[in-house]
Amino acid sequence: MSQEYWEARYQTADMPWEKGAASPGLVDFLASHPELPRGTVCVPGCGTGHDVREFAAAGFETHGFDIAPSGIRLAEEKTKQAGLEATFQLADFLRDEPPQKFDWLFEHTLFCAIQPGEREEYVRAVLRWLKPDGNYLAVNYLIPDIDGPPFGTTRAEILKRFSPHFDLLAEWVPRSYPNRTDKERMFCWRRKAG
Ligand SMILES: C[S@@+](CC[C@H](N)C(=O)[O-])C[C@H]1O[C@@H](n2cnc3c(N)ncnc32)[C@H](O)[C@@H]1O
Repeated sequence: MSQEYWEARYQTADMPWEKGAASPGLVDFLASHPELPRGTVCVPGCGTGHDVREFAAAGFETHGFDIAPSGIRLAEEKTKQAGLEATFQLADFLRDEPPQKFDWLFEHTLFCAIQPGEREEYVRAVLRWLKPDGNYLAVNYLIPDIDGPPFGTTRAEILKRFSPHFDLLAEWVPRSYPNRTDKERMFCWRRKAG
């Protein structure tokens, strides 16, 4: 979908994905892994930045990116109000070069927001934005919808697309927002050497 499409969704307040809080699966992951080294985190398609602020509050150096200027503006305002430190930048995750490479990349409702025909580009972008030994943490939306966004996927598709490039460290069913219960699955991947 184009930048104009996403910007119009913000301008018209047509944002059903906006839950006013970070992904519950991310909240639980960070709370249960206090031992993780506090590296750099990239959150592409960050929207108004709830997940960025969750990583920032946990001590990570966090950077949010979005294709919609209004998403970036709202994310900056909310982060300032929360008294947290994070940077936000306008970027097309699929096509732009990253300003730096990251230790972590967090996926939450971007994979399901892009056209299914762009998923190979998405995998290439994750590889381009991550450091060679980086980790990819994803909350994937396992719904059947083909008339998105959101566009659905399956566990089998996720494994097929990411296994050639990443080792799967863990996968689980996370706690979800009420209307997504039992429709999400989290995957924690480490990039393969070489
Ligand atoms: C469904 S919303 C999810 C926002 C946020 N992740 C959340 O869960 O609240 C999808 C977001 O991805 C952004 N987006 C779509 N395509 C993008 C792209 N190619 N690069 C960066 N952001 C993109 C949209 O502007 C929108 O903010």
